[in-house]
Amino acid sequence: MNAPREHWSGGLGFTLAAVGSAVGLGNMWRFSYMAAENGGGAFVVLYVVMTLLIGLPVMLAEFTLGRGAARSPIEAIGHYGGSRWKPLGVLFVVTGFTILGYYSVIAGWAVRYAVEGLAFGFPADAGAHFGEISEGWDTVAWHLGFMAITVFVVSGGVRAGIERAAILLMPALGAMIIGLAIYANSLEGAGAGYAYYFQTDFIQILDFDVARDAAGQAFFSLSLGMGTMLTYASYLSREHDLPQEAGLIAISDFGIAVVAGLVIFPLLFALGLETQIMGGETGTLGALFVVLPKAFSSMGAAGPFVGGAFMVALSVAAVTSAMSLLEVVVATAVDGLGWSRPKAAIVSGAAIALLGIPAALDIGILELMDSVGGALFLLVGGFFLALFVGWRVPDPIAEVGGTRRAGLGLWRFLLRWVVPSVLLLMSYFQGQASLELIRKLAG
Ligand code: PFF
Repeated sequence: MNAPREHWSGGLGFTLAAVGSAVGLGNMWRFSYMAAENGGGAFVVLYVVMTLLIGLPVMLAEFTLGRGAARSPIEAIGHYGGSRWKPLGVLFVVTGFTILGYYSVIAGWAVRYAVEGLAFGFPADAGAHFGEISEGWDTVAWHLGFMAITVFVVSGGVRAGIERAAILLMPALGAMIIGLAIYANSLEGAGAGYAYYFQTDFIQILDFDVARDAAGQAFFSLSLGMGTMLTYASYLSREHDLPQEAGLIAISDFGIAVVAGLVIFPLLFALGLETQIMGGETGTLGALFVVLPKAFSSMGAAGPFVGGAFMVALSVAAVTSAMSLLEVVVATAVDGLGWSRPKAAIVSGAAIALLGIPAALDIGILELMDSVGGALFLLVGGFFLALFVGWRVPDPIAEVGGTRRAGLGLWRFLLRWVVPSVLLLMSYFQGQASLELIRKLAG
């Protein structure tokens, strides 16, 4: 028989862990490269619209299912919908594998930059340096090291592992990012960076490609569409106010993404590197890891400290997100196969680490895994999740609990009609974009 289900210790434990999941590479690396690719302000506006319209309703749906069933995703979905719906839970687990596989590779870059930057400073020839560290067997080694840390934390359990790490790391992360933004503000020329960041080319708001990227990014950044928030909520007790938690998490996540932009864009403009964020030999995906180190190396004595702080913050953000990705798979193995937590963490961590090796050897594969796992699967997962909670779960509003009912009718309406329509359309466009990448890789 299994041990009784663990719970968060109460207080801020759950909230910090969920914010830790949401705030990650997505807020710093992915948000800024997507904003740069999609016209700055227009992207930010669409991102906010997508968060409010489809992100928040899906987050509340995940919380409701998770807490209501107190089970990992496949079992939770089975609990409310019978075995016909279980494949949706399987999709979640597959998505967890795919995302963590390449996520850990990028996190490995960040950890390596942090360690090497603090020890030796940042290389002046950052483009060539990134070419060396972004692919190859060295990259595999840093990826495996990062996976090992993640496995270690998750084996510790919900309270002693995940929650403890989040309580320790999240306040430090917030302080580091705000400190960096204040420093960036003191640089001469920072104003041009802000201007770029907030300039809005409103025509692009009507562009489906921008909307597709904004939807994908909203899901990625909020850790939605693969049962992560569902799994975290399954360790939650009844007294938490779910709509309030969802709002708090979305606001913190967006806040950190915006503040990270307030670090990145002023830095680039102050050092005259702004044109390079748009791509170059590594494409925009790697640009942050080329242009920022270049900025740190041209900063003089402050470089290693500022750069080191940035890369440490990035690594910390990555680890608290990676824990949540692994937890989906681990919880599934613990509930479904009856494995002990350490065994589940080691075995699934090893399998995911293997899956990430091709991404560590070839950045084209990494890009494809990001497009398929990090966008398409999340959008498709969110589509079915909305239909499931909107139509199949008997009385989702009662499951939310609490005393406040205001807005929950609207929530159910959004889940039934608006969220599925938007996500179907966005999944279609994302499918096209992923196919495009497959053709590029094959050709
Ligand atoms: N939200 C994380 C980030 O922004 O980096 C990434 C992520 C974690 C995506 C967990 C999906 C997920 F289930």
